[in-house]
Amino acid sequence: MNRSYVHVESRAIGYLDSSPEGGTARVIVLIHAFPLAASMWVPQLSLPPDGWRLIAPDLRGFGGSPLADQETALSMDDYAVDVIGLMHELGVTGAVVGGVSMGGYVTFALLRRAPELVKGLILADTRAGADTLEARGQRRGILALLDREGPSGVAREMMPKLLGTTSRAERPEIEATVRQTIKQQSASAIRGAIIRMMDRPDAMPLLVRVTVPTLVMVGEEDEIAPETEARRIVEAVPHAELQVLPKCGHLSSLERPELFSTHLAAFVSRL
Ligand code: MLT
Repeated sequence: MNRSYVHVESRAIGYLDSSPEGGTARVIVLIHAFPLAASMWVPQLSLPPDGWRLIAPDLRGFGGSPLADQETALSMDDYAVDVIGLMHELGVTGAVVGGVSMGGYVTFALLRRAPELVKGLILADTRAGADTLEARGQRRGILALLDREGPSGVAREMMPKLLGTTSRAERPEIEATVRQTIKQQSASAIRGAIIRMMDRPDAMPLLVRVTVPTLVMVGEEDEIAPETEARRIVEAVPHAELQVLPKCGHLSSLERPELFSTHLAAFVSRL
C-alpha cells in the first residue's frame, strides 16, 4: 500500500489511505500503537466498511513521518496537532477517530483540542488513566534500554506483552511483522513517544463529557491494557459499547483483523 503525504507547518506527515482518490466516503481516522506505524492498519485499510474511507497517519518520527526539527516540551498534543493538520489538509471536517493503545491516548488529546472534528470514537486496547508512579518507573527502564540497545532491545522487551498467548503460540508471522516494524523505527521517535506517554494527562474527566457514539474493544489476553481498563472507559462514557475479542492480546487489530473489522463495520453502519 503506497504512502501519501501532506505538509503541516512545513513538515511532512505520511499516511495510508484506503481511498487515495478521495471522493464522498465518510472518514475513519485510525491511529497506531507504540512503537509501530500506520502499516499496522493494513488489514483494515484493505477492507474498509462500505461507504467509508480509512486514513491512518504515521505519528511524527514513525513510519514515513519525519520528526520535527526541534522538539521541546514533548506532549501527546503534538501528535494530535499533526492528525488535526492532516484532516484539515485533506478537507475532512468530521470523522470517526480512534486507535489502539497509544493511538487511544492521541485520540483523547485530539478530542480535547478539536472535539468538533470527532463524530465517533474507537478506543481499542487503551486506558484512560495517566501513568502511575510504577508505570513511569518502568518507562524510565525502557528509556535506559533504548539508550543501551536501541529499538531492537525495545522490541525484545515488549514482544512478550504486545501479543496475546494465542497469537504467540499459533501465529508466528504476526510476531515477525511486529518485531520488524519496531526495529524500523528510529530511537528518537521511540524516545519521544515514551516521554509523551509518561506525561500524558488523565483522560477520565474528558470521557464523562463524550457525547458521540463510542466503540471500545479489547483483546481478552491483553496484558498491557486489560479488560478492566476497557470496562472503566465503558462505564465513564455515556454512549459506549464494549467488544471483547477472544484469543487476542494487546494488538487486537493485527491479531484478530477480521473480527476487529467486523465490529468496526457494524459500529459505523449505525452512525
Ligand atoms: C502501546 O501499545 O501503544 C503502548 O504499549 C501503550 C503504553 O505503553 O502505554
